[in-house]
Amino acid sequence: MSESSAAAAEAVAARFEELYGSAPDGVWAAPGRVNLIGEHTDYNDGFVMPFALPHTAVAAVSRRDDGVLRLHSADVEGPVVELTVDGLTPESDKRWTAYPAGVVWALREAGHAVTGADVHLASTVPSGAGLSSSAALEVVVALALNDLFGLGLRGWQLARLSQRAENVYVGAPVGIMDQTASACCEAGHALFLDTRDLSQRQIPFDLAAEGMRLLVVDTQVKHSHSEGEYGKRREGCEKGAALLGVDALRDVPYEELDAALVRLGDDEEVRRLVRHVVTEDHRVEQVVSLLESGDTRAIGPLLIEGHASLRDDFRVSCPELDLVVDTAVTAGALGARMTGGGFGGSAIVLAEEADVPVITKAVEEAFASAGFKTPRVFEAVPSAGARRVR
Ligand code: GLA
Repeated sequence: MSESSAAAAEAVAARFEELYGSAPDGVWAAPGRVNLIGEHTDYNDGFVMPFALPHTAVAAVSRRDDGVLRLHSADVEGPVVELTVDGLTPESDKRWTAYPAGVVWALREAGHAVTGADVHLASTVPSGAGLSSSAALEVVVALALNDLFGLGLRGWQLARLSQRAENVYVGAPVGIMDQTASACCEAGHALFLDTRDLSQRQIPFDLAAEGMRLLVVDTQVKHSHSEGEYGKRREGCEKGAALLGVDALRDVPYEELDAALVRLGDDEEVRRLVRHVVTEDHRVEQVVSLLESGDTRAIGPLLIEGHASLRDDFRVSCPELDLVVDTAVTAGALGARMTGGGFGGSAIVLAEEADVPVITKAVEEAFASAGFKTPRVFEAVPSAGARRVR
């Protein structure tokens, strides 16, 4: 553990003690993520390739056995929120507390005897930036309760339960990528995940060793109002799968895409969604094989193609994300694309180390000339997944 994360764990534990009157049983951390490639494929049973950020949600937690759940966050003004585990009801809570409470609900629904807890949370994952701040909150609480109640669940199981909390309790129809990334990623690696069965492979991804960097550009456009659009894309994909007679679009082989598009006839909307998902799954497989053969720089054009597909076919980009990608590529980036759900949030930029200052300046200047908010640019190093820190 780095000195700064040890200090963060210490601070969260100290605040817990102030709030609840005794030291926590433990402190856990779970990261946000960026996705290298494989966007809007997870709810089509397809492939994704996220890696964990150094930014984490940290939770100090003590077990309770009296049915009371007390929640507090350093990031939201307000007093401790007190609930009872028996009273948790899906879609009854529109506040931040729905994420941790939803995890308790999902664990209990799955038959695990979680009898209450005191929780204090603090997160460094930017919220509304498409970097999975919600998944980090869910997974850190799931892991803490798994340890404190001796549930013996594996990372992928905690991810499934966290996704259920978000789908059913919070009411957001997200896929499984973000929770699995937060629970299962490893430092120095990207996670090649098959979202159909959650089988996974850790792919070494050490850009610094090869003289490259990966930048995250948070456009500061909050993506939270997009849930309706996300759901519409998801429904369109399901319609495409039904029309093609497959369980999920993952089952349409890349080699048969043209024939599938012909079969979809003149339903242009569905044709575009299908084209994105099938080509995107193919891009993930290409990126994996390039990385495994040590040809990292060659992934750049696939990132750019992926962005074009999300912009033109899937239509989940926005002017700010497009400006990051166009400007970065013009300024010499090897590749760039939006990451996460889209409609705002963040883009990633793959660049030679020496080109980072020029690219960063170009993006900042382009945003200023367009009259956009100043973007937040930082370097992302593949970091550890969820773990106990104290
Ligand atoms: C959001 C969702 C994920 C995934 C991405 C798009 O981050 O939470 O499940 O669908 O969008 O790839």
